[in-house]
Amino acid sequence: MRLGVLISGRGSNLQALIDARADPAYRAEIAIVVSNRADAAGLVRAAAAGIPSAVIADHDRASFAAKAHARLREYEVELVCLAGFMRILDTGFVEAWRDRMVNIHPSLLPAFPGLYPQRQALAAGVRFTGCTVHFVRPEIDTGPIIAQAVVPVHPDDDEVSLAARILVAEHRLYPLAVRLIAEGRTRIVAGKVEIAGWRVEELAALNPCEPPPDPLVSKRG
Ligand code: GRF
Repeated sequence: MRLGVLISGRGSNLQALIDARADPAYRAEIAIVVSNRADAAGLVRAAAAGIPSAVIADHDRASFAAKAHARLREYEVELVCLAGFMRILDTGFVEAWRDRMVNIHPSLLPAFPGLYPQRQALAAGVRFTGCTVHFVRPEIDTGPIIAQAVVPVHPDDDEVSLAARILVAEHRLYPLAVRLIAEGRTRIVAGKVEIAGWRVEELAALNPCEPPPDPLVSKRG
């Protein structure tokens, strides 16, 4: 499956998708990286990996969308991955890529959408937060959820330490979610994502806090 990755900055999630190629069984390859900023560090990562990139710096939403759409078509992209892409996308663009565009967000959606999700989590006093990969719908940080990972909040956390812990989970979760799509194992049914053929290692990534079987609970009930 050919991916188009949209970035605005650091590009560590882009790097996680690049690194996933090390597994010969991984069926997704990055065809092009598009950045809305010329100074995005992720562009250096793309170049180092020999991946073509384009900078589209148009501030006008419609004109960014038209140019990005043309580039993605030119590179025969089948799935668009938003990876730290910090601009709101034109609704027409989102609809054009409906069910073929995914995003990663550093919270357990639908909790804490939008900006500063780690700050929101700290302010709410939650004991756990995490990250979510979801199909993109026009309303910000909404859409059918593909995968989530749970991350604990420590009592002495600040935004920086919490963001760093979540990021470790993001780097595992995004390649996993993309792999499920590339293998044709996701299906959206009534607004929810069904995944065919679970494997144990995937369950661990999706639910890192999955408890071991409880011997007091008999399997036969
Ligand atoms: C990540 O936390 C991602 O979840 C959010 O923006 C950040 C991007 O980081 N959407 P990077 O550019 O992938 O390093």
